[in-house]
Amino acid sequence: MKTNRRNFLKSASIAGAGAVTGGFLQGCSSKEPVTNLHQILEATRKAHTQRFNMSGYAAPPLPVVKVGFIGLGDRGSGAVQRLSYIEGVEIRALGDLREAAVKGSQHYLERIGRPPALEFYGNEEIWKKLVELPDLDLIYICTPWVWHATMSAYAMEQGKHVACEVPLVRTIDEAWLLVETSEKTRKHCMMLENCCYDFFELLTLNMARNGFFGDIIHGEGAYIHNLLGMNFNKPDDSRQSDGAYTGMWRLKENATRNGNLYPTHGLGPIAQIMNINRGDRMEYLTSMSTNDFTMQFREKELVEQDPFYESWKNAKFRGNFNTTLIRTVLGKTIKIQHDVSSSQPYSRIHLVKGTKGMAVKYPQQKIALGEDWLKDEDLKEIWDKYTPEIIKRVGEMARKVGGHGGMDFIMDWRLIDCLRNGLPLDQDVYDGVLWSSIAPLSEWSVANRSQSIDVPDFTCGSWKTNKPHGINLETGGTTQVLEVKREKESMQLNVR
Ligand SMILES: NC(=O)c1ccc[n+]([C@@H]2O[C@H](COP(=O)([O-])OP(=O)(O)OC[C@H]3O[C@@H](n4cnc5c(N)ncnc54)[C@H](O)[C@@H]3O)[C@@H](O)[C@H]2O)c1
Repeated sequence: MKTNRRNFLKSASIAGAGAVTGGFLQGCSSKEPVTNLHQILEATRKAHTQRFNMSGYAAPPLPVVKVGFIGLGDRGSGAVQRLSYIEGVEIRALGDLREAAVKGSQHYLERIGRPPALEFYGNEEIWKKLVELPDLDLIYICTPWVWHATMSAYAMEQGKHVACEVPLVRTIDEAWLLVETSEKTRKHCMMLENCCYDFFELLTLNMARNGFFGDIIHGEGAYIHNLLGMNFNKPDDSRQSDGAYTGMWRLKENATRNGNLYPTHGLGPIAQIMNINRGDRMEYLTSMSTNDFTMQFREKELVEQDPFYESWKNAKFRGNFNTTLIRTVLGKTIKIQHDVSSSQPYSRIHLVKGTKGMAVKYPQQKIALGEDWLKDEDLKEIWDKYTPEIIKRVGEMARKVGGHGGMDFIMDWRLIDCLRNGLPLDQDVYDGVLWSSIAPLSEWSVANRSQSIDVPDFTCGSWKTNKPHGINLETGGTTQVLEVKREKESMQLNVR
């Protein structure tokens, strides 16, 4: 990378094209001329040359992985518990804005007989002190979305690998920042897309790799989960609650942006099956949203009942249901849907369609060969034949440890096993930023009557030669699962 892409962005904004750094790719509240965005994306692409290919990159092995956590709310506290079951993990530091959150995870470590971790809490910037600790290998980030890119970039600059919750970035500018930083520092930057490790998703990935579906031609994914009540859940001192999402950060996202804000759960497993960034790449997308038919009414009800909600009065919420269509360079299509505010059973769809067969996960797992759905007894044979090695190795234990039925644990175990054995990670920085960037691109398309928009090639052409990642543990797989005194199961089945 000979960049100076960041300087380029500065001059682009001076020249009047300034939306990249702070405007439409972030919020898309105003309509920008379509040509403007295309010019900016094109110039950004030209300004970036890959400095080092992080796809397939194997960092030096770390027999002991010393971990610091930032963000110990719902998700982060569960991650501390899961990692405590994995051989070779030392939980060295705990960080959160809130003292109670840090103390909660510290007490957990105490109860299971682990050494105390260093504590960092009290203000919005204290996490930097944690990241600067010299003796940490991995920073595990579970904060609200606005912090992900800043924290990840700083952690890599401080010589740490990064594992960060979804989505990894909110803007295209943040995406390039992480690509550049990962390439420059040669530190892993993995987005924790746990749905890639769910049982049916891994099964269909292995089936695709073994040609069951023929050539893959189309995939569908979604994040459809009614979070209306949780998003409007307010902090309540009398119950010592900071709200379902601390400080209502998730409602803020839904009140300031309009598009598919959370694309990665549905998209990640499909992108892996299609070998995106590893033989194919996303070329362009188009996106369309409905109006908001629920959130504005909930807001009005709540404003009438409770003065707390006054600050949300007349907020302009995103359209409830978004559909985004992506076309790849090899001529395949992906449909991704998103709705967190109207009533419907939970779904990530996960539909894989090839020239010979297809599979779909929601509302019910089904697999077809030719024009017929397979019968239940045939499905058993499919599971016997195509269950990948990673599930055979840790699937049962993962179900016991929990975390969305086990997939969270499979993901964490695999991450740690790769770091301990010096193996490339399954999801590299290019995957994380690409899957996340569907959000700002969809925002732009929605704001511009669904006009199509190019998807940046964050691999700078290396997608042509990058190799698919392994799920059959040809190497590695040596990390044991520890016996830990069992905490009460926070078995949350639907991914949030
Ligand atoms: N992969 C999944 O299945 C899944 C499920 C749930 C949440 N998530 C993701 O996990 C992340 C956290 O979600 P959550 O539900 O745990 O939210 P949460 O509100 O329960 O927790 C967020 C935590 O971050 C802390 N925080 C905020 N700003 C901070 C700062 N500057 N420094 C340190 N700590 C800070 C908050 O105090 C809080 O404890 C989000 O990115 C979300 O999208 C992923």
